[in-house]
Amino acid sequence: MDSQLLQQPAVWIATAAATAASVVGYKIIKFTKADAYEGVDERIPTPAPLSNYLGAIPYLPAEFPSSVFHRWSAMLPIYKIHFFKLPMVGISDHQLAKDIINSGSFDEKHKAYDLISRFVGSKSILITYGEEWKKTHKLVAQTFNVANIEKNFLPTMVRTAEIHAERLAEKYASNRPSVGSMTSFDIDKCTVAVALDIIAKTVFGVDNTEAENIQTILHCMEQGAFETQRRFYSPFRLYNPWLLWKHNRNISTLRSEIRKIVGERKDQLDEIQDTRDFIASMLKARDDETGHLLDEETIIDQCITFFFAGHDTSAHTLAWAFYLISRHPEVEAKLLREIDALGDVELTALRLNGLKYLNLIIKETLRMYPPGPAISRNTNRKGKIGQYDINKDVGCSVHVLAMHYNEQYFPNPTRFDPERFNEENVKNIPPFQYIPFAKGERSCIGQKFALLEMKAVLVAFYRKFTFTPDPWASLKIDAMITLQPTAVRLIAKERILK
Ligand code: HEM
Repeated sequence: MDSQLLQQPAVWIATAAATAASVVGYKIIKFTKADAYEGVDERIPTPAPLSNYLGAIPYLPAEFPSSVFHRWSAMLPIYKIHFFKLPMVGISDHQLAKDIINSGSFDEKHKAYDLISRFVGSKSILITYGEEWKKTHKLVAQTFNVANIEKNFLPTMVRTAEIHAERLAEKYASNRPSVGSMTSFDIDKCTVAVALDIIAKTVFGVDNTEAENIQTILHCMEQGAFETQRRFYSPFRLYNPWLLWKHNRNISTLRSEIRKIVGERKDQLDEIQDTRDFIASMLKARDDETGHLLDEETIIDQCITFFFAGHDTSAHTLAWAFYLISRHPEVEAKLLREIDALGDVELTALRLNGLKYLNLIIKETLRMYPPGPAISRNTNRKGKIGQYDINKDVGCSVHVLAMHYNEQYFPNPTRFDPERFNEENVKNIPPFQYIPFAKGERSCIGQKFALLEMKAVLVAFYRKFTFTPDPWASLKIDAMITLQPTAVRLIAKERILK
């Protein structure tokens, strides 16, 4: 090419365009020829014929709980599908689930968790894996120690639950003649408010959440959590400049407000005697072997994680529990007898944990409506799931919901029956068949916190009310990461205790 020609911008543009076209062309050919199931054992069946290019994409967004993924999992203990050319293995057999959930080879979270990481931060224990996770988890676990939860967090849970029960009494009690039995309310809104209040008070160590900075944090949390969850089902939101800007602004406000609180707590650290809130606990946590402490940004990531992982989950489980109990008067009657037998005493951990029937109700609620209907991992190295070979970098999803409805272990699975979990019957359920909190090393760190919280809220509310379903309201379920009931409308009736 002569040098004059090379100086023409049009020639440069044409050359660049030709190069770009060749790269794109090459990528398209590579994509069309690629085997979506490379490295996935060919003995694993596919549940349905899928398009070579799109794979299971047309089945998204999935509608819970009747999504096709759930039906496939009910049909096959293990199957493979693909999204574009990314393979995914679905599992609903308890032995195979154990190989995924309990395995050091598969502790990397699924790539979809990148969407969560953007919100909760890259050092969150929900996201990290390997050595990084171990180092942080060891210190964060100190804050979730049972004695700490019972001594420092339970009184806040009980007080907050009682305040919200009192608010409900003021607002909706149906035995007021002017309101009558026609006024129903959305219990999910109510349980979300209680759970949000509890987590805010326990994370920040405040007695009420009215202060402007806490209200800002709660607002950003709700907005951010909503956007993060929505992106799972509408990936195009990632390319919407307005939503992107809004989400980034929320995250940056959230982090800067939490950073201020962490800074203040750090300055007061010498005066803080106990660890009555998560921030103080994390600032004080220390690895005795290595001397390692949690830095400020890591603490901020965990604070957002506790909100994200710990308020929707408990809140929706509570809403489902109220919903199920309201439809089963015999269960409600038995529960009320157990609660009333306590008398008007302070709710301690010993007393709450002694409520055996309440415990069965919570377990059965978590079986029917596990907030995490699937647990997903990415294989970090070559390995085996049962007899099947799996390569590095394959997405694996354990379908908790399908496992909880397996007739072999849960006869008549659509029936709400807390007695499935009584001492006798529970022996027939294999450990990895029922996994609302996952199991093993990467199980829910907040399990004990959540169970006490849910017990405190249920007792505080059933001490004051009974609930009946609104016969005109229909139930809807929102497809988010957690199973969210929208509009669980109940009618509250204040109890007149003799
Ligand atoms: C009914 C209530 C809850 C349920 C059913 C639940 C369920 C789960 C499940 C299934 C996992 C494993 C997720 C995975 O491996 O992908 C998990 C992890 C986690 N949960 Fe919960 N959770 C609940 C409440 C809470 C609460 C109250 C907190 C905190 C205050 C919390 C904090 C966490 C954290 C930090 C993790 C990540 C643990 C790790 O990977 O080391 N959860 N939860």
